[in-house]
Amino acid sequence: MATLGVNIDHIATIRQARGGKDPDPVLAAMMAELAGAHGITAHLREDRRHIQDRDIYLLKQSVSTRLNLEMAATAEIVKIAVDVLPFMVTLVPEKREERTTEGGIPVQGKERDLEKTLESFRNNNILVSLFIDPDISQIKAASKTGATHIELHTGYYANAKGQAQFDELERLRDATMVATKLGLHVNAGHGLDYRNVAAVANIDGVEELNIGHSIVARASLVGLDTAVRDMLGLIG
Ligand code: PXP
Repeated sequence: MATLGVNIDHIATIRQARGGKDPDPVLAAMMAELAGAHGITAHLREDRRHIQDRDIYLLKQSVSTRLNLEMAATAEIVKIAVDVLPFMVTLVPEKREERTTEGGIPVQGKERDLEKTLESFRNNNILVSLFIDPDISQIKAASKTGATHIELHTGYYANAKGQAQFDELERLRDATMVATKLGLHVNAGHGLDYRNVAAVANIDGVEELNIGHSIVARASLVGLDTAVRDMLGLIG
């Protein structure tokens, strides 16, 4: 059974729309845990468009499951991560113009650089996951960096239709098989919703799904507790 990491970034997006205190992503994380979430994920972006430094520090103190800090591997954010000591960091590429993370990290050819970045996390007992496209070459490269986990980018699958979506699902299956054979733990996420999640949750070897937008969108209509429980019902 895949577990569920609830990404609470978009609770912070709503707060930032007015620049006040509400709704508080830390409170949302507590509610998601009460509803059965296995972990909480938050992305501290360089431009601080949603999650703020204060949120990450309070999440570290409050989360009783696992805190997964999504981040770009920039010196500023690495320093914060090493200070906060989350359970895991998931390294993502970040572009200021993008609405959300668009593609995986191009690991191939950058194995050495990443290995160096990963050292500071390893020295502080922080697990590292690399968000990558479901390409065999990227997976093989990821296995050479010292990362213990990868997160497969499910956005291509989520955006595809018909046969193309079936093909993308096959790509995720093959990628998971290769990664687990190389000893990597496999998480997955991006664009997963109540209609497309089950097929990914059923892939043998996928351990955790990180899901944000669809849960927060449903929560705005039916409440966070129901939205998280509905998602758990589909992946369990
Ligand atoms: N995983 C990663 C690495 C992401 O960057 C995001 C988006 O922040 C997610 C999962 C969650 O994606 P979504 O909000 O589409 O569920």
